[in-house]
Amino acid sequence: MLRNTPNGYGLISIVFHWAMVLLILALFGLGLYMTGLPQTESGTFALYQLHKSLGFTVLALVAVRLLWRLANPVPRLLDVMPGWERAGAHAGHLALYFLIFAIPLSGWLMVSASPWGIPTVLYGVLHVPHLPVPAALGDKAAAEGTLKGVHEILAWAVIALAAFYAAAAFKHHLISRDDTLRRMISTRPART
Ligand code: HEM
Repeated sequence: MLRNTPNGYGLISIVFHWAMVLLILALFGLGLYMTGLPQTESGTFALYQLHKSLGFTVLALVAVRLLWRLANPVPRLLDVMPGWERAGAHAGHLALYFLIFAIPLSGWLMVSASPWGIPTVLYGVLHVPHLPVPAALGDKAAAEGTLKGVHEILAWAVIALAAFYAAAAFKHHLISRDDTLRRMISTRPART
């Protein structure tokens, strides 16, 4: 029930999955919203701190999620899937893991490079140190500019990939009528 089986996801993997979906959507919306606000207002500062706190939560969750995945059987993809679709699903999962690590790390590097040296205090409690920024990125302002661009592009990439995944899941549910989507919602083993 809690753990994965060869044919289905356990409750822990399902909760991780949907918590990550909600957090990433919230971070994406908040990121776009806060960057459009006047930078001098204290409310904007609070939203930036919230964005950074939620972003670090994602980084912690994806690390734990990866350990959980390594410690558990990974459910097989359904037999009804052709080979190309399986290969695509595996490549997509890898790309999602890469992006979900790379986005918060690029954000962390970006705030570390900022000439303003603004501290990051998670949920108003935990002070996060700045990272050393690679010298190859130039002076602080240049490095911050580059990392802002990288952070934004990676964030759009994860949303595009997730939208593609959601469309594929609905196609499986509504057209192929298999258990691909259902097993992401319920711990009942899938019909393979
Ligand atoms: C999965 C996690 C994250 C997602 C999906 C995400 C997404 C975004 C998005 C969409 C933007 C707006 C980009 C733009 O239009 O300029 C943004 C901006 C920003 N993010 Fe993140 N972010 C994440 C994690 C983090 C983390 C961990 C930090 C810092 C520790 C961070 C720091 C920032 C900052 C400082 C900005 C404002 C950049 C600017 O002023 O242009 N983000 N983020």
